[in-house]
Amino acid sequence: MKILISGAAGHMGREVAAQAGSAGIKVAGGVDVADVQADFPVWADFTQAPAVDCIVDFSRPASLDGLLAYAVQNRIPAVLATTGYDEAQLAAIDEAAKVIPIFRSANMSVGIALLRALSRKAAQVLGDDFDVEIVEAHHNRKADAPSGTALMLYDAVKDAYNAPREAVYGRHGRECHRDHNEIGLHALRGGTVTGEHEVCFFGPSERITLRHSAENRSVFAQGALRAAAFLPGKAPGLYTMDDVVGEI
Ligand SMILES: NC(=O)c1ccc[n+]([C@@H]2O[C@H](COP(=O)([O-])OP(=O)(O)OC[C@H]3O[C@@H](n4cnc5c(N)ncnc54)[C@H](O)[C@@H]3O)[C@@H](O)[C@H]2O)c1
Repeated sequence: MKILISGAAGHMGREVAAQAGSAGIKVAGGVDVADVQADFPVWADFTQAPAVDCIVDFSRPASLDGLLAYAVQNRIPAVLATTGYDEAQLAAIDEAAKVIPIFRSANMSVGIALLRALSRKAAQVLGDDFDVEIVEAHHNRKADAPSGTALMLYDAVKDAYNAPREAVYGRHGRECHRDHNEIGLHALRGGTVTGEHEVCFFGPSERITLRHSAENRSVFAQGALRAAAFLPGKAPGLYTMDDVVGEI
């Protein structure tokens, strides 16, 4: 199968290109606003991009409009790994998924799919007495905070409670006592950290921490290529890692 890499000049785009061959996938081209030396053609936008079996996108939310227009017009499935979309962009993805299959996940690692399932289970079992805090750490180039993965973990945990638990992003100030019905999200940034996520459950006299560390970015590239191999031929709709690896 042939793919097009959106964000081909970026750290993840180059990792996807490096891993594609060993997954039996050919890179037919790339799209990026930046220049890159590659052994496939790279265009500045999607207007000249050829027909491929799937698009793999690790870029910026700004690329979404052009990507979806190209994908929908040519009926090409898309793996969207970019994070930081706003509400309108998420709605546009939902609309496009009525026409083409779209895989979207803020984290392409199978380990994070498991962490998500374990976190939801922990929230259900531990119940209302436990306070939940989510802590993530990433390299100093990361644009969005908190990470898309932290937000995904927040969604998984929040849905386990009957009473709404609101997100609180960091804490600062003289009067910021913790409300029971909140889930804290905290973002650390620095150096070259690939991606660390912790979901902490603080109970009356015990504490449970679930933790995932990505040791290098190849795990995300491999997950994205696995998703790209999965999508062609699927019905229009939104797919996640749970669909690819089966129910966890
Ligand atoms: N889902 C996952 O598992 C996962 C894992 C790692 C990174 N990410 C996300 O993937 C994205 C890329 O990460 P990265 O570390 O490779 O970043 P990066 O900054 O190294 O690369 C982003 C690339 O996108 C390009 N770009 C920017 N705007 C563009 C546009 N409008 N059209 C086309 N290309 C454009 C940039 O020129 C750059 O080459 C980020 O959103 C990051 O959070 C997701």
